[in-house]
Formats: sequence, C-alpha cells, structure tokens
Amino acid sequence: MTPFITFEGIEGVGKSTLVQATAKHLAKANIRYCLTREPGGTPFAEQLRAVLLAHHDERILPATETLLMFAARAQHVANVIKPSLTAGVWVLSDRYTDASFAYQGAGRGVDMAVIEHLAGFSQAGCVPDLTFLLVAPVALALQRAKKRAVLDRFESEQLAFFERVQDHYLQRAALEPGRFCVIDATLRLSDVQAIAFDRMKSL
Ligand code: TYD
Repeated sequence: MTPFITFEGIEGVGKSTLVQATAKHLAKANIRYCLTREPGGTPFAEQLRAVLLAHHDERILPATETLLMFAARAQHVANVIKPSLTAGVWVLSDRYTDASFAYQGAGRGVDMAVIEHLAGFSQAGCVPDLTFLLVAPVALALQRAKKRAVLDRFESEQLAFFERVQDHYLQRAALEPGRFCVIDATLRLSDVQAIAFDRMKSL
C-alpha cells in the first residue's frame, strides 16, 4: 500500500504549512496524494468537526469529545483513508489518532486504555507509516496561534493544557522512533521542510 503520513503538534507550530508544502512536494514528483484532516475529512465528519470546535453553553464532557473524535475518525478511515491507500494514492492527514491520545488522554485526562480501545475499534488497522511531530516552546506556539481572529474551543485552553499535550506527543515519539519524525518548529521554514522531505525518502 502507498504511504500514510500524519502531521501532529500543538496549535501554532506551523503544522498546516508543512502539510501544504508536503502536498506540493508530492505533486512536483507526480505522486498522487489525498490531502485530508481530522477531525473531518468526509462531509459527515466535517459536521462533527464543526460541533467539536465550536463553543457551547453546555459543558462538553471529555468522554463526549473523545467519542465524537473517534466517530469522525471511523468515517474518515472507512470512506477516505483506506480507499485512497488501496487505490495507490498517498494519504497526508493533518492530525490522526496520536492527537486523541495527546489532547483527550493527556490534555483532558481520559483513560488511555479507553482511547487505545477506541483506536482499535475505529481505525480498522490503519496506522501511519510516518508521523511528523512539530515541536516548539509552548508559550511561543500559543503566541503564534492566538494571533488568529477567533479562537476555537481547543485554542482557548490554557498553557498547562498544551504543555501536557506536547509532553505526551514527545513521549509517544520516543516510544516509536521508527514512525515519528520530530522536527524543531523554531527552525527556518525551509529547514523544517528539508528535514521532512529527507525523511520521506526512506518511505
Ligand atoms: P487543527 O488541525 O488544529 O485545526 P486548525 O489548525 O484549523 O485550528 O485541529 C482542530 C483541533 O482538534 C485541535 O485543537 C486539536 C483537536 N483534536 C483533538 O483534540 N483530538 C483529535 O483526535 C484530533 C484529530 C484533533
């Protein structure tokens, strides 16, 4: 099957810029790819994304948030990721299951065993071949993210939340060095991209 590549990191580390640059890089090489994102990636999952990112008067339970993330993921895997990989198309996903461990697990305190179980249930064996993790000092990243006009429900969290999220991402990367490529997001954009494209040569 063709490679499945995911992009992770807290808000403000330049993840979306790297995703776009990677897509261009593949296009230049005449490689067919599908550029997608989570939560979202299918019409129904995009509706779940809108609900998940919006602010609500009612308190959203970590359990509810987790289940909706995985509901969106199940749709995304079955209707976009798997069919693309089967058809010989590379898949680039802006976030995937590592985000659920980092945000819902480490960030919100949801039992990691529950997340592990939901991952097995929803992703039908679809595991990324390569995961780029962009890291930067949390305060710096948040400063960048908060320049955006309107902050969504996640972007409105406090520094300590994102410290837990980034620490957990790094723990996961240390456990799976073969899959993760950790990149210092404070490097120049061209250097970040050069590291990423070099790593892709080994796919
Ligand atoms: P993000 O890629 O940051 O969207 P944008 O850059 O357009 O703001 O993703 C939206 C949010 O969803 C992000 O704050 C992290 C969160 N998220 C989770 O909490 N768990 C998950 O499993 C996923 C995929 C995303």
